[in-house]
Amino acid sequence: MLILGIESSCDDAAAAVIEARRAGEACVRSSAVANQDLIHSRYGGIVPELASRNHVVTILPVMWQALETAGCGLSDLDGIAVTRGPGLVGSLLVGLMFAKGLAQTIGLPMVGVNHIEGHLLAPMLEQGVPMPFLALVVSGGHTALFMVEDFGRYTMLGQTRDDAAGEAFDKVAKLMQLGYPGGRIIDQLARRGNRKCVRLPRARVKGAPLDFSFSGIKTAVAAFLLSEAGAATAPEDLAASFQEAVVDMLIGPAIAAARETGVDTIALTGGVAANSRLRERLAEAASAEGLRLVAPSINYCTDNAAMIALAGSYRLLRGERDPLAIDAEANLAL
Ligand code: KG4
Ligand code: ZN
Repeated sequence: MLILGIESSCDDAAAAVIEARRAGEACVRSSAVANQDLIHSRYGGIVPELASRNHVVTILPVMWQALETAGCGLSDLDGIAVTRGPGLVGSLLVGLMFAKGLAQTIGLPMVGVNHIEGHLLAPMLEQGVPMPFLALVVSGGHTALFMVEDFGRYTMLGQTRDDAAGEAFDKVAKLMQLGYPGGRIIDQLARRGNRKCVRLPRARVKGAPLDFSFSGIKTAVAAFLLSEAGAATAPEDLAASFQEAVVDMLIGPAIAAARETGVDTIALTGGVAANSRLRERLAEAASAEGLRLVAPSINYCTDNAAMIALAGSYRLLRGERDPLAIDAEANLAL
């Protein structure tokens, strides 16, 4: 079954074509992303109005690009999967309305997909991942631990009480005047830095060992930057120290959840899963625990439409479709 995926929940407009054989088993024929980094970088963060206006311009060309790379036309498609939440509502509406129009015009079944479900299943785009598995989802909007029991059956075991990890990366990059998007820049800068140079707090949520909190570290970095020591510290050393603290705060609950649940596989997914130090440290921690770590390639960690197509595919394969009346939901729960 050839499925077109459409994703526009935040600042990336993406389209992909996958060939789905069975639930969770697919071959990615193409995955195109039109990112807006240059548009938002001068503001140091995403401007929602600009994001949705640019999606209007790019969504059609990005779809043509995905079809061309996949070597197919609209008439070859068997279904459409589109993100319907959570995310910025203006951005979501562009992709959703586009998918509805397309589905109606060419008479295809369409399903609305939860963006987080896309991230959860993204590791399956490149390899078989037997269920159940534990997933650490770390993105700009979410940081949570899920037990993936089956397609459509996900239990949240813990989540952030305040900021998402990616948000912390982006805000600290802004405080340090490093530019946008901050995560990737800090990752690169940190490679040259001393991780032990600046002592930063590792927050834990009292009584909730599987929950996370990242607002404290952001405040700690802000205070440090105003101090005398802050002014004298090299940016790469602060970046490396900050990144190490975030990685510690992510790994602690993930390993605790793995021990508690007794799973043998842990998946690392979401935009922050692209972080080189997090990948390295979680691989070490997982191997010490006898766990298998699966993490998608960088392109499938950050927002993409192949993961949305995959997350919609098990429903489309069962012959399901959503009515055209489905709406975009900024806070769609999983
Ligand atoms: O999943 P994603 O593309 O969008 C959301 O669903 O939020 O994640 C974007 C987040 C941003 O906060 C970005 O700074 C972060 O992922 N990110 C990284 C890296 N690459 C992207 N964070 C740390 N290290 C990276 N290499
Ligand atoms: Zn995402």
